[in-house]
Amino acid sequence: MLSKNRLNALSIWLVVFAFCASGAMAQQPAVPTWQATSLWPDRIIVTLDQDPKTTFSVSWRTDASVTQTRAEIIAAEAHSRFDLGASVVEAQSQTVNLKAKEIDGTTHSLQWNTHLDSASYHTAQFAGLNPDTLYAYRVMGAEGYWSEWLQTRTAPANAEPFTFLYFGDAQDGLDSHWARVIRAAYRTAPDSRFAIHAGDLVNFGSRDYEWAAWFKSVSFIHGMIPALPVAGNHEYYDGIRNPEGGQLTALSLLWRPQFALPTYADLPPDVAETVYATRYGNTLIVTLDTMADQYFAEQAQWLDNILAASDARWKVVAMHHPLFELLERNIPGVVDTGPERRSLFLPIIEKHGVDLVLQGHDHAYGRGAVISRGGSRAGSRRQRISTVYVSTSSGAKMYGIKNDAWQAFADTGAVLQRQAENTQFFQIIRISNDAITYEAFTATEQLYDAFRIEKQSRGPNRLIELPTDLTTDRTFENTGEYVNGRYDIPPEVESPQ
Ligand SMILES: [Fe+2]
Repeated sequence: MLSKNRLNALSIWLVVFAFCASGAMAQQPAVPTWQATSLWPDRIIVTLDQDPKTTFSVSWRTDASVTQTRAEIIAAEAHSRFDLGASVVEAQSQTVNLKAKEIDGTTHSLQWNTHLDSASYHTAQFAGLNPDTLYAYRVMGAEGYWSEWLQTRTAPANAEPFTFLYFGDAQDGLDSHWARVIRAAYRTAPDSRFAIHAGDLVNFGSRDYEWAAWFKSVSFIHGMIPALPVAGNHEYYDGIRNPEGGQLTALSLLWRPQFALPTYADLPPDVAETVYATRYGNTLIVTLDTMADQYFAEQAQWLDNILAASDARWKVVAMHHPLFELLERNIPGVVDTGPERRSLFLPIIEKHGVDLVLQGHDHAYGRGAVISRGGSRAGSRRQRISTVYVSTSSGAKMYGIKNDAWQAFADTGAVLQRQAENTQFFQIIRISNDAITYEAFTATEQLYDAFRIEKQSRGPNRLIELPTDLTTDRTFENTGEYVNGRYDIPPEVESPQ
């Protein structure tokens, strides 16, 4: 039996412990829950392979203690024990040091990843699947720590119609202002088969807490709708400039661990998983890396080859920097690669009859086409065109369009047909055998731009303007507040004070 004194001492310690525990509970956690790692899988994202009829990959994250794990997959069924007999696929796992980055053999400290030292990233590739089939899959963290079952559909074997989403730069205000855009897109076209993010998904590509904000906004959507991410300048922008103070260098250390994308033996290793292609139904989608200017010639050659080898009815190219810019930009120390991109990529796009080029970077909206010579009357709502070019934006950052934008490119035949400032957009693109139907919606789900590209039995495509909800051009003058020509969205929270 305990003496009275010892009982008193124990009571005091219990009171002290209870006080401390309640104090600790009252404090905010060191890391917001959506940034913290754990034994559970999070940031689950499906990406497409070169042949999405039969293959897709899923990537996810855990804390660094998980170094080996797995996923399961089975064709989805309507009954509740669809999961019995699921196939097991071992994951490829890697631990990423979030506070260090090696560039040219030198390790640089990334001061902003102060809340997490490291995390483990896992990828499982599901191959040998049946086309146009709904699959259920789940991923594991530590042993027994399973995700929910998620469902995604493989690509059709033939030319069945399909829908996909296209987003411009998210970049700023990710978990405050961008979330509503991707969720409105999902609400408007839940049947979308994949989503293209045309670069600058975040502001600083190596800040883990910005990816935390991006994935928080995405929520479960990319567990079901595969992503095709394009690398932009901000995926390269890790705050480290080369010694000459020139171009921003080095792809985000999180890019390859968190996205599983196709790689090619005939491309330089530096552009692995930023230059890739996928064949979805009757459409070839090719992604370029406009930051890798040292490899523009190699990318152009590869683009030429892959377009020449494809029998796809439709060809779409996605890249971050637009070939026809909307803005007047002169950033000290940053070389304008526009002339080089136009001289290398434009002739190949024209030569192979690429139908649609999807881009970002300008933080404004611009859509136009290269008009076929002698094929159209000025001002007509039906025009013969070679390629449609779009640049758009989905996040909070907004820039103004220069006067007479695209005039500088008139010698190419490019004509700007619809533009907007100070507006967050998402795009829904529907592809059938005969036509591409394109719609650009505001975050408030109003149709701002719409057109159809019709494939002709002979000669160039026909572009047909479609009616929209909004007909007036949105500009800084007729839309909302904008502070001092700069966006004034608070940055993503790194961690509480
Ligand atoms: Fe950009």
